[in-house]
Amino acid sequence: MRNKAVKTEPTVRSGNGTIRSFSVLCAVVFTTACVKNHAPSVCEDAVPLHKAMPFPLGTCIDLRSLRINQQYRALAEDEFESITPELVFKADRIHPSQFLYDFTGADELVAFCAENNKRLHGHTLVWHEQLPSWIQTFPGNAGEWEALLRDHIQTVVSHFKGKTKAWDVVNEAFNDDGTLRNTVWFRNVGPAYIEKAFRYAAEADPEALLFYNDYSLELNPKKRKAVISFLNNLRMRGVKIDGIGLQMHVNIYFPEPSQVAEALKEVQAAGYLVHLSELDVSLYLKPPLSQISVSQHLLNRQASTAASIIRHYLELPDTLKYGVTFWGVADPHTWLNSRYGVKDYPLLFDDHYQAKPMYMECKKILCE
Ligand code: XIL
Repeated sequence: MRNKAVKTEPTVRSGNGTIRSFSVLCAVVFTTACVKNHAPSVCEDAVPLHKAMPFPLGTCIDLRSLRINQQYRALAEDEFESITPELVFKADRIHPSQFLYDFTGADELVAFCAENNKRLHGHTLVWHEQLPSWIQTFPGNAGEWEALLRDHIQTVVSHFKGKTKAWDVVNEAFNDDGTLRNTVWFRNVGPAYIEKAFRYAAEADPEALLFYNDYSLELNPKKRKAVISFLNNLRMRGVKIDGIGLQMHVNIYFPEPSQVAEALKEVQAAGYLVHLSELDVSLYLKPPLSQISVSQHLLNRQASTAASIIRHYLELPDTLKYGVTFWGVADPHTWLNSRYGVKDYPLLFDDHYQAKPMYMECKKILCE
């Protein structure tokens, strides 16, 4: 039997505690009028995968590749509904010196999203990497650091107000043992920098959805529980935090499907929108020891890994499904190649920009 597919808006808790959600309304009014099975046309081979998914399927985009590579651009236009900027929203690009914001590249990507009707996911406001050197060496006292944090967040969020659906407000703030990472922000603003960052972002754009984003949340319960309880605490103090991004840089060996299921259940139970925000399925155990040659067997294993992740994601209530974003359009563009120094094949499209078994297997979930 086919699963039901309907694109719904994620739930947003408004100030007075009411829930704004199309699907909740549907459930109350008349369920069968609001959900429909896939029309066969959605499952035809020529119809892109994202049309068959009941949530926004996304990719990160590298602006340079979008400009110069026609195959890359065609896939970005046709195959993905949500766009996360891979580089051009990061502080080193957007805020190259203290009194200079440069939105040139970011605005070009925003225009691409508007022209092509894509949802734009802002990534990222506060991170310890890809910082300009002037921030890394900023000599100010705690008050000046706080002013810097506020100025950066509010200038960037205001610039894109109404154009970004959501923001990764804070990225990778936790260590694997669940303690807070010792970053420039932590050292100079203090541990309250996370709370401040969310408050500044909400002030600048009250409509934007605000996410905390991190890696290993799917396989490290200690880190995940620490993140969830930290965010719950902030929420109890009135801080607006809408969702959690699980990066999901996974491989064909780990995590186990049961680990993914457990992670998603915990985030769901805590009532956060769930974004699988940087999905790639590496063919290597980490760290890779030596270059492998790609085989049908490995690609099939990759396909079942991805399909199992998507299946678990589909079990979330529609209202919490913010979306699934792959960290790259096609294999030649994966960040993992330069990160680990071996060629990897972790994305939906291959070196010739053709759909891989992973793509077909994900489509089968809802179409068979
Ligand atoms: C990566 C980009 O893909 C690379 O091109 C860049 O050199 C480094 O950053 N977690 C994140 C992303 O939140 O922003 C990172 O993106 C990958 C890890």
